[in-house]
Amino acid sequence: MTATTATPASAQRIFAERIGRIEVSATMAVTAEAAKLRAQGAKLVDFGAGEPHFATPRHIKDAAIEAINGNFTRYTVVSGIPELRKAIVERHTTDFGSNYTPEEAVFTTGGKLALFNAIQVLVDHGDEVILPVPYWVSYKDIIQYGGGKVVYLETSEAENFRITADAIEKAITPRTKAIVLNSPSNPAGSVIAPTDLERIVRLAHERGIYLLLDECYVYLQFTGAPVSGGSFTDAKEHIIILGSLSKTYAMTGWRAGFALGPKPIIAAMSKLQSQSTSSTASFVQKASLAALTGSQDCVTEMRTDYLKLRDRILGRLAEIPGVTCTRPEGAFYVYPNVGAYLGKPGAQTSIELASRLLNEAHVVAVPGEAFGTKEHIRLSYAVSHDDVEEGLSRMKQFFAKL
Ligand SMILES: Cc1ncc(COP(=O)(O)O)c(C=O)c1O
Repeated sequence: MTATTATPASAQRIFAERIGRIEVSATMAVTAEAAKLRAQGAKLVDFGAGEPHFATPRHIKDAAIEAINGNFTRYTVVSGIPELRKAIVERHTTDFGSNYTPEEAVFTTGGKLALFNAIQVLVDHGDEVILPVPYWVSYKDIIQYGGGKVVYLETSEAENFRITADAIEKAITPRTKAIVLNSPSNPAGSVIAPTDLERIVRLAHERGIYLLLDECYVYLQFTGAPVSGGSFTDAKEHIIILGSLSKTYAMTGWRAGFALGPKPIIAAMSKLQSQSTSSTASFVQKASLAALTGSQDCVTEMRTDYLKLRDRILGRLAEIPGVTCTRPEGAFYVYPNVGAYLGKPGAQTSIELASRLLNEAHVVAVPGEAFGTKEHIRLSYAVSHDDVEEGLSRMKQFFAKL
């Protein structure tokens, strides 16, 4: 059902048709319910928020403070100051062997805006965009807002929700304009095998399909060295890398992201940006420059802790009878299957289950419906080790009584 059919005729006169194509983020309902309980004094264990529990590293904050004190507080060039775009491409070249130039980079107000602008400049009405399930909530709405038709690609839980080149090939039609991939993924932490990634890159390039690679969690991969599609430089004509400093450097509130891609596409994205947000905040650009050019030890330290947290939460989840969970290879989420507990009165769906978990055990989790699957809940383990222990103890008791 589209929102348009549900909208009364009077409302249709107020709103443009395109706003009816999207929904408020499905995670918002849980967040709002949690906020209400918190206001009543409840001590919640919050596995809902998809953001690092770490503070932004000192040297990054200092760079912003220095920029503000030095009055670096004016508009900048829309696509980002030249030294920052240089730092983005140099970081990517060093880490992944890509060969972008600063003209092939645009700095954006978060990775989400990079994705939004890329879709806006590439996807037209009726264009198909392949999206593997489970997916990060915003992809489908951003594609639909752009007029695109989402083509959902089911993955297998038994295969860790892994995306394969064979599955992608089967989903391609003459109307496929783009493919959105996220590795490591939110919500399941699955990683595309390097051989599959290479085949997908070649396939997209041969067929003239744009590959939007969301590398938001690329530095939070636990198994093997992360690979970027950008390293296949001969296919870069059809690759757009979507990057974010949010998770890598614990900078979610700074709104710092970027895109790397062919010059005409980056120019079109910058043009769109020039008519909406203009540049990102000037001092955020200086902070981001410090993040990208400074020591990367902070990234290693945070990743090391996420890995310990992953193992701890997986161990505790295994204590709950009937709950199974794939082994995430990156990011900071687990996506346990709670199907064994669904279909009972008061817990018909994962939405109901998450609501009861919140109200009865004071544990915040996001229902799988938000990510396109029915039998799961997502837990973000970017929290303290104590919170993992406390939250999972509460969950164990909750499921025992269910
Ligand atoms: C998969 C994925 N992509 C992109 C983003 C957007 O990140 P930001 O806009 O903070 O850079 C998120 C945030 O949760 C995410 O999970």
